[in-house]
Formats: sequence, structure tokens, C-alpha cells
Amino acid sequence: MKEYLSLSETSKLIGKSKETLRRWDRDGKLNAVREPISNYRVYEKAKVQTLFANLLGENIEEETSNFVKAKKDYKVLELFAGAGGFAVGMEKSGLKCVALNEIDKWACQTLRQNRPAWKVLEGDIRAFDFTEYKDKVDVVTGGFPCQAFSYAGKKLGLADARGTLFYEFARVVKEVNPPICIGENVRGLLSHANGKTLQGMISILSEIGYNVAPVQVLKAINFKVPQKRERLILVAIRKDIDLQYYYPKPYKKVYNLEDALKKGDLFCNNVPKSKGAKYPESKKQVLDLVPPKGYWRDLPIEVQKQFMGKSFYLGGGKTGMARRIGWDEPCLTLTCSPAQKQTERCHPDETRPFTIREYARIQTFPDDWEFSGSLAQQYKQIGNAVPVNLGCEVGYSIIKFLNKYYDLNSKS
Ligand SMILES: C[S@@+](CC[C@H](N)C(=O)[O-])C[C@H]1O[C@@H](n2cnc3c(N)ncnc32)[C@H](O)[C@@H]1O
Repeated sequence: MKEYLSLSETSKLIGKSKETLRRWDRDGKLNAVREPISNYRVYEKAKVQTLFANLLGENIEEETSNFVKAKKDYKVLELFAGAGGFAVGMEKSGLKCVALNEIDKWACQTLRQNRPAWKVLEGDIRAFDFTEYKDKVDVVTGGFPCQAFSYAGKKLGLADARGTLFYEFARVVKEVNPPICIGENVRGLLSHANGKTLQGMISILSEIGYNVAPVQVLKAINFKVPQKRERLILVAIRKDIDLQYYYPKPYKKVYNLEDALKKGDLFCNNVPKSKGAKYPESKKQVLDLVPPKGYWRDLPIEVQKQFMGKSFYLGGGKTGMARRIGWDEPCLTLTCSPAQKQTERCHPDETRPFTIREYARIQTFPDDWEFSGSLAQQYKQIGNAVPVNLGCEVGYSIIKFLNKYYDLNSKS
């Protein structure tokens, strides 16, 4: 039986006004159904919980550790592996990567040079058949790039998603049949195509035999990462398994830039010297005028207008523009290129972007994890990654689930 919530119950549950909910209904962001007699809006409880689990679960309690020891050697197949942020994090938690797929040759070289024992399957995921891993891995993971589906107006099925990389993710999960699979993505997936893309993914996973746990957006700063990055996590459990998945609990302690770059709790030495990009002279002259924790609004008005161009008149905070990070705050989300227009994250004391090793530290990669390719390729691999420490905490949550799963299975 489906359970429904009234407009005011939904409003209280997700902390949004009734007016916002009515607008979301009109815009298709969160569709209500009409109660047949009164014609009032009501909301399917499961749908609200699935889409807004991240809003519901914000209460942060002090947590000593999510650490849990794996009772067996659990095996991971990591898709869209990039330079290995998620993979290294899962390895740190105690999971074993049996194979990784990635199309980018420099990212593959990074994986191979750091972990010669890992099986790196280089190439387009579409070209690989994963049936050899059927019933041989415990978890399939992957940060599939987000693409729109083309809707024919009906409920979306696996075949309709053909051509997208999510289709490939689902296809591999179907081929491999693991007890659990984890997709990771950007927060934007929640609102992509008014939420239809995510709903489509959930219904496709259901079609291939997996129930999706309430979707959450995890904030990296709550998981020992000195950076305000967020990742949406999509967890699906095989339907024959009657076990709940629990997300890793957020920690209260937040780490700052100084924890990333200086000796302290996160790293046992200062960040090593390494190569880095430079700002063009004109940008450097502007950023020289911005204090730590400052941004474009700290510039003289004429410089603001010149630096921002049209953006100056467009409104909005644009707090990421001409930004100099302070030592006592987490870094803003790193991008794939450090001198990119409108997303400057300048070093606190020197007027320059972060170096490669600084970038890697902010993503919590260990100092001995080396990146291949040109400077631009290296920044791209780091900027694309799931922060290692976030990957590790998600790893613990997978281990916790698998420990329970195998306990139950050995008893039956
Ligand atoms: C967001 S990044 C993944 C980052 C990775 N999870 C990490 O933590 O470092 C997505 C990756 O998907 C890869 N990719 C894109 N299209 C692909 C395809 N058709 N086949 C395999 N990999 C692909 C990209 O090269 C990119 O490295």
C-alpha cells in the first residue's frame, strides 16, 4: 500500500514552504497527486523520502569512527575509475579492487603506475563484456557522467536509456549481479530534467532487480576532507536481499586548508613542492588585491567591473570568483583546471593557483600517488576525483553492509 503525505506534512518533513511545494509541483520538480474527493495535493511518502533524504538526514551527531573491519576479502569492480580517487579510498577502507575501467589513457597510466597489480581495463566501457565477473564481485561502483534520457512519455526502461553511460553502468550491474552497487554523481543530478533523470535511473535499477536506498548528497567536509565538495550517492541493493543500507555517519570535525597543506591531523608533513599552473599577469594583478577569504567584492569598484565584465551586472553572489582561500576554512570545490575563468581558488599567501601536490592534498590523495600526463591532464584527473577520504568512509559503509549480508547468508 502506498502511503501519502499532505501538503503541510510534506512541507514540515523537508523544511520547504507550502508555496515552494506548489511551485515545484507546477514546475514538475516534485509532483503531487490529487486526493480524489477533496482534490488536495498529496505526496507519495516513499518518493519524498527518496528525493529528499539528504535534507532529512542533516542532523550531525558526534561520531567517533565509521571504521569497520571486513570479515572477508570483498571485491570491487570500479567503473569510470578516473585517476582512482574513489578506488584508493575504497582500498583504504579495506575493499579490494579486482578490475577498473576507464577510457582516458592518462588516467589509466596513473592507475597502472601507482598500482601495477590492479587490472586496468582501458577503453570505452561500451566495448567491454563483464560477464566473466558474474557472481564474483561484491560491489560494482562508478561515477557515470550524467546525461539526459530521451523520454517517450512512458515509464523509462533500460532499453530507453541505451546510448547513455548510465545505461552502461546498469548493463554492467546486470551482467555482474553483485549484492550492492554504488553510483556517484554531482548534486545537480537531483534536479536534472526536473528530477526525471534520477527517477528514471531508480526505475531502471528496479527493472534490473535492484532497490535504491534513499538518495543522499554527502558533504565531503563531514568526512575528513578539507574541501566543500558534495557527491550524490546512489546505492542499490539486489532485491532478494532484505537488508538496509546505512550511509556513513558525518563527523562534526571540519578540516581546513591548513590541515591539507601543513603537518597535522591529516598529513604527517608539510605538502611537498611540485609543479603548478600560473595565472596570466592580468589576473595576478587583480588577485594581488584580494585578501585571504576575500573575493571579487573586495576589489575597488572599477577593477570589479573590468574583471567581471558582463557578470558584474548579472546579480547573484558569485562567491567563487576571484576567490582567495584562507588557511582557516575548507577549500572551495576544486575544478578540473585551476586557472579557469570565474572559479579562481588562489593560494592564501602567494598569488597563484594551488600546485599539483596541493590540489591532490585538498582531495586527500596521499603524497605518493603520482599523476601521469601533462600538467593540465594531471589537474583534470585530480579535479574529477571523489575525495579519497570520502571514498574511504563510503567504503566502510559498504563493508558494514557486506559483513551483515554474509553473516545472514552463512546462517541460512
Ligand atoms: C567523474 S570521473 C570519475 C572519477 C573517479 N571516480 C575518481 O574518483 O577519481 C568520470 C570518468 O569517466 C570516464 N569516462 C567517460 N566516458 C567513459 C566511457 N565511455 N568509458 C569509460 N570511461 C569513461 C572519464 O574519462 C572520467 O575519468
